[in-house]
Amino acid sequence: MIARALLFGLLLAPLLALASPRERILLDSGWRFHRGDPPGVDGRLDYDVRPQVAQSADGKVADARPDAAEKVEADRPVLKPWILPSANPLLPAGRRHRRPAGEPPGGDVAFLQPDFDDSGWDAVTLPHDWAIAGPFLVEGPYGGMGRLPSWGVGWYRRTLELPAGVAGRSLFLDVGGAMSYATVWLNGRLVGGWPYGYNSWRLDLTPYARPGERNTLAIRLDNPPESARWYPGGGLYRDVWLTVADPVHVAQWGSFVTTPEVSAEAATVQLRIEVDNDGRSAARVEVASELFALDADGRREGTAVARIAPAILHVPAGSSARTEGRARIAQPRLWGPPPEQQPHRYLAITTISRDGRVLDRYETRFGIREVEWDPDRGVVVNGRHVPLRGVNQHHDLGALGAAFNVRAAERQLEILRGMGVNAIRLAHNPPDPQLLELTDRMGLLVIDEVFDSWEKKKTPLDFHLVFPDWHEADLRAMLRRDRNHPSVILWSVGNEVGEQYDGQAGAEIGRRLVAIVREEDPTRPATASMNWAKADMPFPAAFDVVNLNYQGEGIRQAPEFEGTERIRTPPSYPAFRAAFPDKVIFGSETASAFSSRGVYLFPVSPEASAPVRDGRGGDSAIRQVSGYELHAVDFGSSADKVFATLDRHPYVAGEFVWNGFDYLGEPTPYYDARSSYSGMIDLAGFPKDRYWLYQSRWRPDLPMAHLLPHWTWPGREGQVTPVHVFTSGDEAELFVGGVSQGRKKKGPYQYRLRWDDVVYRPGELRVQAYRDGQPWASDTVRTAGAAATLEATADRARIAGDGRDLAFVEVRVLDAAGRPVPAATDLLRFRVEGPAVLVATDNGDATDMTAFPSPERKAFSGKALAIVRGIPGQSGTATLTVESGTLQAAKVGIQIEAATGDAAQPSVVPAHAGTR
Ligand code: GAL
Repeated sequence: MIARALLFGLLLAPLLALASPRERILLDSGWRFHRGDPPGVDGRLDYDVRPQVAQSADGKVADARPDAAEKVEADRPVLKPWILPSANPLLPAGRRHRRPAGEPPGGDVAFLQPDFDDSGWDAVTLPHDWAIAGPFLVEGPYGGMGRLPSWGVGWYRRTLELPAGVAGRSLFLDVGGAMSYATVWLNGRLVGGWPYGYNSWRLDLTPYARPGERNTLAIRLDNPPESARWYPGGGLYRDVWLTVADPVHVAQWGSFVTTPEVSAEAATVQLRIEVDNDGRSAARVEVASELFALDADGRREGTAVARIAPAILHVPAGSSARTEGRARIAQPRLWGPPPEQQPHRYLAITTISRDGRVLDRYETRFGIREVEWDPDRGVVVNGRHVPLRGVNQHHDLGALGAAFNVRAAERQLEILRGMGVNAIRLAHNPPDPQLLELTDRMGLLVIDEVFDSWEKKKTPLDFHLVFPDWHEADLRAMLRRDRNHPSVILWSVGNEVGEQYDGQAGAEIGRRLVAIVREEDPTRPATASMNWAKADMPFPAAFDVVNLNYQGEGIRQAPEFEGTERIRTPPSYPAFRAAFPDKVIFGSETASAFSSRGVYLFPVSPEASAPVRDGRGGDSAIRQVSGYELHAVDFGSSADKVFATLDRHPYVAGEFVWNGFDYLGEPTPYYDARSSYSGMIDLAGFPKDRYWLYQSRWRPDLPMAHLLPHWTWPGREGQVTPVHVFTSGDEAELFVGGVSQGRKKKGPYQYRLRWDDVVYRPGELRVQAYRDGQPWASDTVRTAGAAATLEATADRARIAGDGRDLAFVEVRVLDAAGRPVPAATDLLRFRVEGPAVLVATDNGDATDMTAFPSPERKAFSGKALAIVRGIPGQSGTATLTVESGTLQAAKVGIQIEAATGDAAQPSVVPAHAGTR
């Protein structure tokens, strides 16, 4: 603690000596953490009185109609009136909250007192997810939220050693995200808080800070049970910063870059800067900006490429003012999605000065690009049509939980990009801010989405409880934070909200939210995803872009759903096209197909798309869904069916598949599992067969062929074992043990080649694919013998020893000849030696209830994953050893480098081996 305090003092003092205009200090270490309140709190620290919930079954169908909110009046003092003013910087003058006079309730609670002894609490480092270590809640109705103990109260405390020199400066606590209902005290005094767990927020610590002293920060979080349809995580799960600035400084997210004119010859960059004056006297300042090009890694290149002429700005005391300027960049390097375009970026450095003294320096990264929304073609970036090949992604990072980690997120995006993904929908909440740095750098298009519910509820204690008070601040927070990211092309104000059902009244809420979007960002369109509202209803008319979930393919159209009370809708793209000829239409959620990696169930359905039932794609005894990739949620469709629908309606701008990576929670159709079945990639990051079905369509120029199932079926000899092939070719010939099973060609609206009568014989299965009659790609699988050896492969040979960078190690069970053993479930033991630690293990099995930090885990379908992190400040070779009984152990060395911030460039795109 003392070392940390000293370090902090040392860090800040020289900066102040240099009169550094603005300092951001990452508050990642030195925290103490404790679950639960001390005795006697008795609800006095509650944000508000919540409705009582009886423990309910959570296997609710995802497209069930949301319910009306329950009205609950607080019958005792609560903290809400003290916390609402935290939203004020985001609200227009007329709608700001006044902090009540007098002291808030609960001021005597022990944990918020500066002299409370927290030395017995856990020492933690942020980002921290308090629930991810488990243990899993195997019994009970907790599948929906991932069977991990995310709900309840948690406290974080740390000291802030503030040098005397910060007197007279403004001090802010900047929180990337806290799950959820955060309340913050500094030196025992309530500063404010933020209910929504997914937004970033700022509190002004200045009035409560004691410069030259040891200050105590206490943060209480109160995650409601039954508040999410997926795993929310819990705790300070994103970065937390202390910002120290002159009282006259650029406001929170106070810059806004737009590019009103873009061409190959020149671009106009318009930069608006908002300056806050927290001081007691008016300020007359000069605001000037310089623009620089950034290289592919985001580093500044050379000298300024343009300047925005200095402007004089008068900022009254305790108030704000804005200035706007323009600059021209000749031959701009545009931002656009690869491979056709490159994601070039720029940086604006804005300086606020008074009488020649620099008060603030503020950096804004941006890109220059022009996005057109063409109802006939879809999304056009810099004049080039970009078909949306998108996926939906939830925020968890598998075995790492909600605690954000740049490398883990980057790995996800790299694996997705390998499949041909060019767009991500952030379902259904704003991401960690660093995720958008990644999408900017990688050139992925993004739908940034703010809410999963408005006034109506999907789960008893979800965001609807605070929507009336907080929607405006929360929506503005997302828009202001994220509007300079070139990757963000569309704002979504809601997902499948209950207000779709409410005629004009629901549409009116939609219009209000869109109006807020326009105020904060007039350059991008706004949408809300609809799984129920029809083309002739008021709801879709409220939005700029028509986003349909599942309706494009039709919902529950099979005869077995006749008479159902659930949503049943015919294929709807034509109706929306007719009603909204001037709007772009696309599938913001498609498919929701299910499968378990490497599990194949028989018989194989003859249909191209079918729901999951026992004996028909599913097996509720083992809680797995067949990897033949033909089955979907009742309201969804297989990938093949979606492709056919899109090809029949070429005006549809593309799709966002539900979903990219499996996520914790929502394990439809088996709610006693822990994680979803809908990902194209499992929770550990291993591609399911579907990965190659999408790749065959999304990367048509990549020669590839992929066979399924595996070919190790002891006991199935002589039985029909269908073989399916995904290929970017148009034709293929299949060989079993060298004997041709015939050559097949894809027909119209066919996306896989299937040989459904193949009889299993151990040996070799091989496919030769063709395109335009020429050999194009091949794939081979061979029957494996008994497990004999383990193989461990790290995604990167070198990682930074910065306490954050990670190596992901894939472990495979092989036979004596080095062939993968596809059904292996051997129990593996992991051990790390050297300057690194084992963070977590996984295998992608939705039913595996072994806690993630466990060094022992069974292989699932022949594979497992280990996640390794370097120990901060140490370097050298770390060795991960994997053992299992008599199998030959595997070792992999990972070089941990002294942290310089430059980790070795990763390469984790799953290679399609060609031979398995
Ligand atoms: C959709 C919903 C998603 C997810 C998905 C699962 O209705 O928007 O959040 O629940 O279904 O199939």
